[in-house]
Amino acid sequence: MLKCWQAALFASISLAFSLQAFAQKNPLAGDPKAAKAGESEFRINCALCHGLGAKGGGRGPDLTRAVKKHTHTDADMFQVISNGIPGTAMPANGTNGQGVGMTEREIWQIIAYLRSQEVKASPASLGNTARGKELFYGDANCSMCHMVQGKGGRLGPDLTGVAGSRTREAIIDSVRNPSRRLAWGLTEATKEFPQEYETLTVVTADGKQIKGVTLNEDSFTVQIMDMSENLHLLEKDKLRSFQKTRESAMPKYTTDVLGDKDLHDVVAFLTSLEAK
Ligand code: HEC
Ligand code: HEC
Repeated sequence: MLKCWQAALFASISLAFSLQAFAQKNPLAGDPKAAKAGESEFRINCALCHGLGAKGGGRGPDLTRAVKKHTHTDADMFQVISNGIPGTAMPANGTNGQGVGMTEREIWQIIAYLRSQEVKASPASLGNTARGKELFYGDANCSMCHMVQGKGGRLGPDLTGVAGSRTREAIIDSVRNPSRRLAWGLTEATKEFPQEYETLTVVTADGKQIKGVTLNEDSFTVQIMDMSENLHLLEKDKLRSFQKTRESAMPKYTTDVLGDKDLHDVVAFLTSLEAK
C-alpha cells in the first residue's frame, strides 16, 4: 500500500524535478493564478526598486518593457532573479534583507506575473536622438562629467547603460533635482548597500583641501575623485577634517538652463543606447 507520506514525497520530488528539467520554460506560463501569486511576491521582494506594477522606480528599471537589457527568455529571467546581476544593485535571491529567499516555484510565479504585465509594443521614443547627442556633448555640458560609450568625463557615473537601469522619469528627475536621490556607484557583495555618490570635502594633515565625490569608503579609508578627476585614497584617521553632504556634485538643471524639449532630446539619446 502506498502510504500517504510516500505519495506526498513522490509528488514533491516529481514537482521539483519537473521545475528543474524544464528550467528553460516557465512551467506556470500563462496561468492567471500563478500570475496573481507572483504579483504579491513581487510587491514584497521587488517593488521597492522596480516600482508597483513593475513599471520601474527610482532604483530599478521598468520590467514591463517588451525589450529588456539582460533578459529575453524566461530562463534568462530565472537566472537573473536567482543570482542577481553582479556589479549592479540587482540582488541575488535571498540577499539584501529578503530573508530566506523565494522558492523556485515563487520565482516562476513572479515571471508569470511579469509576462502578464509586459507591453507588447515598444513605446515610440519621445524626442530627437541626434539633437540629444549634440546637446549631451555640446551646450548641455553633460559629457564634461559623464561618459557615454567611452567618451566623456569621469566625475559622475557612466551613463551608457542608465536607460536600462532606470526609468525615463527617474533620469529626468536626476537632471532637474540631482540631490533628491544620489546615484549608486560601486556595488560589492561585501557591502549591504551600494556606495552612493556623496559629496565630500576633506582637509589633509598638511592642510590641503580636497572636494569631490566618494567612490568607495570603509571604516578606515575613503576614495575620492576630486572635481578635476584626480583620484585620492586617504586614511580617515590622518585627516584634519572630513565633511560629507548629500548635496550632489552635479549642478541642478532648471528649465531656464535646459528647457523641457532639450531635456527630452537628451533622454531620447540616452535611451537609444540601451538596445546595443
Ligand atoms: C535593490 C534594488 C532591486 C531589487 C530589490 C530588485 N531589483 Fe531587479 N534590478 C535592479 C536594478 C538596478 C536592475 C538593473 C541592473 C542594470 O542593468 O544596471 C535590475 C534588473 C532586473 C531585471 C533585468 C531587466 C532587464 O532589462 O533585463 C529583472 C528581470 C529584475 N531586475 C527582476 C527583479 C525581481 C523579480 C525582483 C524581486 C524578486 C528584483 N528584480 C528585485 C534592482 C533591484
Ligand atoms: C559638474 C559635473 C556634472 C555635470 C555637468 C552633469 N552631471 Fe550628471 N551627475 C554628476 C554626478 C557627480 C552625479 C552623481 C551624483 C548624483 O546622483 O547626483 C550625477 C548623476 C547623474 C545621473 C544619475 C545617474 C544614476 O545612475 O542614477 C544622471 C541621469 C545624470 N547625472 C545625467 C546628467 C545629464 C543628462 C547631464 C547634462 C544635462 C548631466 N548629468 C550633467 C555630475 C555631473
